[in-house]
Formats: sequence, structure tokens, C-alpha cells
Amino acid sequence: MSQKKDELLSHEYDGIREFDNALPKWWLYGFYFTIAFGIVYAINYHALSTPLWGQPGMVAEYQAEVDDANRLAASRPKAAGPSTALVALTDAESLKKGQEIYEGANLCHACHRKDLGGMVGPNLTDNLWIHGCSPAEMVKNVTTGFPPLGMLPYGSGQKLSDEQLLQVVSYIISKQGTNPANPRAVNPEREKACS
Ligand code: HEC
Repeated sequence: MSQKKDELLSHEYDGIREFDNALPKWWLYGFYFTIAFGIVYAINYHALSTPLWGQPGMVAEYQAEVDDANRLAASRPKAAGPSTALVALTDAESLKKGQEIYEGANLCHACHRKDLGGMVGPNLTDNLWIHGCSPAEMVKNVTTGFPPLGMLPYGSGQKLSDEQLLQVVSYIISKQGTNPANPRAVNPEREKACS
């Protein structure tokens, strides 16, 4: 090999000629490493259904994204405005579930008070509303929240299913006219009577 060093190859293109030198060791080993890495990577992520390292497999990742998208689509109100035919639930079982959500980890009670009289958020028991009082509007309000004012989506951000949204909204509607003591003061500029 040493006598071949700086030996010119016979071909010539546009006046460019090349030596028949061996590739540098560091370059070759780097190249072999990328080949070995590629094979291991391809088997790990593309062939094994459960990869030995890293993320869940491609199929599982794809399925998780599809599930996420479906959940998001399901949680979006179907159409804007009060015309959506969403009817409040009135059965005791649903209202109890709604109360559990209201008093649970989504922290509705922390801002609207356990008796719904209002504190950080407005009183939810009177007929005065800022963002609408139909079940569809209220579901939308709980879904999106009012982040600049402190109410995150779903109250504190923990996702609720369509059914749970309707349960908590129905619970609020069931508390209409309960007149809790010392409710939060009304802001007549923003809170309007709702029919
Ligand atoms: C961190 C405080 C906070 C939490 C937690 C919170 N809210 Fe609110 N909420 C507010 C504030 C503040 C407003 C008023 C928005 C405005 O002034 O425009 C509001 C408004 C609302 C409204 C609209 C009221 C209207 O007059 O139109 C509804 C309905 C509501 N919240 C329900 C809920 C429910 C249900 C939960 C729990 C899932 C919840 N909130 C959790 C602070 C909160």
C-alpha cells in the first residue's frame, strides 16, 4: 500500500485527476459506525413492534396521535352558537357526577365557590351571564376557559369527556336560583340577563 501512495489513477475529467489513496481511518470508522447505527436503528424502530430503546413503536405512536386527534375533535362543540341542540341533564345520577367534577380536580369550586356563589369567577347561580347560558355555550366556555382571566380550559386544564362536560354544565344549571349567601358582586356592564 505504501508504494501506491500518491499514485495517479489513469482517468481524467475536465483536467481533474485523482490519487488512489486509502481513505483516512477516522473517516472510514465514522462511516462504518453510521452503517452499524443505521442497521440497529432500522431494526429497533421499523422492525420491532416494541423497540428496545426510545419511544413506543411507530404503530403505537401513530395510534396515540389518532386517539388524541379523535379526543380533541370529540371535545369541540359541534357548531357555534346557541342553536346547537344540547339539552341539560336532569337525572340525579348525572347531576351527582357533575357535582363531583365541579368539586374535584378541575377546581371549579376554587374559583366559583362550592355553593357556586362566585369568588375569582362569577356567580353561577343567578340569571346573569357574561358568555351565554345555553348548555352549548357553557360547554364551550368550560372547554376553552378564559385563560387571560385565570380559568384554564376545563377549569384547571384536566380534560373532560363530552359526557362529563354536559354533566358539570347540567349541575351548574341545576343550581340556578339557589341564592347562596354573600355572592360575588354583579358587574352590570358585563353580566346580562339570559333567557
Ligand atoms: C382559576 C379560576 C377558575 C377556575 C378553576 C374555574 N373558573 Fe370558571 N371562570 C373564572 C373566571 C375568572 C370567569 C369569568 C370570565 C370573564 O369574566 O369573562 C369564569 C367564567 C366561567 C363561566 C362563564 C360565566 C358567565 O357568566 O358566562 C362558566 C360557565 C364557568 N366559569 C364554569 C367553570 C367550571 C365548570 C369550572 C370547572 C371545570 C370552572 N369554571 C373553573 C375562573 C375560574
